[in-house]
Amino acid sequence: MPDKEFVSAPLKNAVESGSVCWEAPSNIALVKYWGKKENQIPANPSISFTLKNCKTTTRLNYVKVSDNSTTSRGIEFDVIFEGVKKESFKPKIASFFKRILPYCSYLEEFKFEVVSDNSFPHSSGIASSASGMSALALCVMSLEKSLFPETEDDFFYKKASFLARLGSGSACRSVRGDLVVWGQHQEIPLSSDTYGVQYPFKIADVFKDYQDTILLVDKGKKQVSSTVGHDLMHGHAFAAARFQQAHDHLSVLIPVFEKGDVKQFVKIVEREALTLHAMMMSSDPYFLLMKPNTLAIINKIWEKREESKIPVCFTLDAGANVHMLYPSQFKEEILEFVKNELVVYCENGHYICDEIGKGSKKL
Ligand code: PMV
Repeated sequence: MPDKEFVSAPLKNAVESGSVCWEAPSNIALVKYWGKKENQIPANPSISFTLKNCKTTTRLNYVKVSDNSTTSRGIEFDVIFEGVKKESFKPKIASFFKRILPYCSYLEEFKFEVVSDNSFPHSSGIASSASGMSALALCVMSLEKSLFPETEDDFFYKKASFLARLGSGSACRSVRGDLVVWGQHQEIPLSSDTYGVQYPFKIADVFKDYQDTILLVDKGKKQVSSTVGHDLMHGHAFAAARFQQAHDHLSVLIPVFEKGDVKQFVKIVEREALTLHAMMMSSDPYFLLMKPNTLAIINKIWEKREESKIPVCFTLDAGANVHMLYPSQFKEEILEFVKNELVVYCENGHYICDEIGKGSKKL
């Protein structure tokens, strides 16, 4: 049963052709989404920092088809990624279009060209699905707005996040900045399982320009896809406790954000990262996603924190790369630390300097 609120009205007059362009950032979860129910409904709430520099820019070109012949064949489209036509990207986008069609029936009236670029190298081990799906969902919404000009801004972003979620769960947290919650949480009003919302409470200044230096330990393809990973939470011995822990961590973070309690922030964020990996290490089959260099970096970060008293901490996605998070006032010292002590653990010495960002932008 489609979520009625987001089903588009029948089309009266379609525009002939057009082109829209959006850039959308990646995001890094502080409380992790790991485990889902049917239709990309998260098993627990999550919260993320929207990033600023790691982003995808997508242009969607559309032309009206002369008859309704697309209905039987599915939606027709081409994908051009970094200047090259990419057949291999088509299945994921085809399945995205199929999933969102019940909410955007006007898509059947058009033929598309999806032209995308990432600001970060494709083989950097940074997942582009969050930024990519979010940028594409926003383009679809711009097309919807040109067909239904009365669409209000609030609804526009809400539905963009709703659609992005159907492409890749965490993508729904990449539409807006700077702290985004996805998944129902009893203390966060208007939080929803079907789209991300901007964190509604007070955020102390220290968290407003937090830094994220991404240390690229392994630039290869992910060892375990997130689809497989989420699935492993079904029947996982520790699943129920983990889902409850995510709710509890989010509750603890509310006063942390308000007071700027970086010490407690460090504790929750690292615990979340290690729990995500612990879930993977204890699932059936089990996986070890950290590499020796991931552990070496974590130990170095702990040493640095102890010796300098800088509240620098790490978080991890479902892979070997390390996101090092710290307040901007320590940027210089931490970047020195990266050059002197961490770069040796990064593949080809590569790392990316990012920070908390304001969300997507129409170009
Ligand atoms: O959006 P997905 O299905 O690729 O899942 C992302 C899962 C993590 O990145 C590990 C955690 C998160 O909340 O982003």
